Amino acid sequence: MTFTYQAPLSKELFLLDPDVVFLNHGSFGATPRPVFEKYQRWQRELERQPVEFLGRRFNGLMHAARAALAAFVHTEAGNLVYVPNATTGLNIVARSLRLNPGDEILATDHEYGALDRTWRFHGLKSGALV
Ligand SMILES: Cc1ncc(COP(=O)(O)O)c(C=O)c1O
Repeated sequence: MTFTYQAPLSKELFLLDPDVVFLNHGSFGATPRPVFEKYQRWQRELERQPVEFLGRRFNGLMHAARAALAAFVHTEAGNLVYVPNATTGLNIVARSLRLNPGDEILATDHEYGALDRTWRFHGLKSGALV
């Protein structure tokens, strides 16, 4: 599996209404056209043989994708895990911190709601100051 990165991303790479200036790729981000086309190809492939795809090919494909990502970020595939979304990944990191009373959790005022709640939760639980 090869991965080609095309930088910088320009507006033409998105399917967005050209009259719209779209800034929120955090909540409901638009997908770049090449990614959109690729995932549609995978969806069609899945629809051709769902049981075969999910039952027999899925694990191998996910392993290949992880290996490709590992090569891209210069690490071993074993160092990477899939998470359902950014919020889950950040909660895993937050839970791995050993926070103590007197510690401080510093965030910006651009943090999104789920992470505000995560830090408040960990602050209350550990006695750290948010
Ligand atoms: C601004 C912003 N960034 C990031 C996220 C993360 O979303 P997710 O955990 O679904 O990937 C959200 C979700 O609402 C968001 O609003």
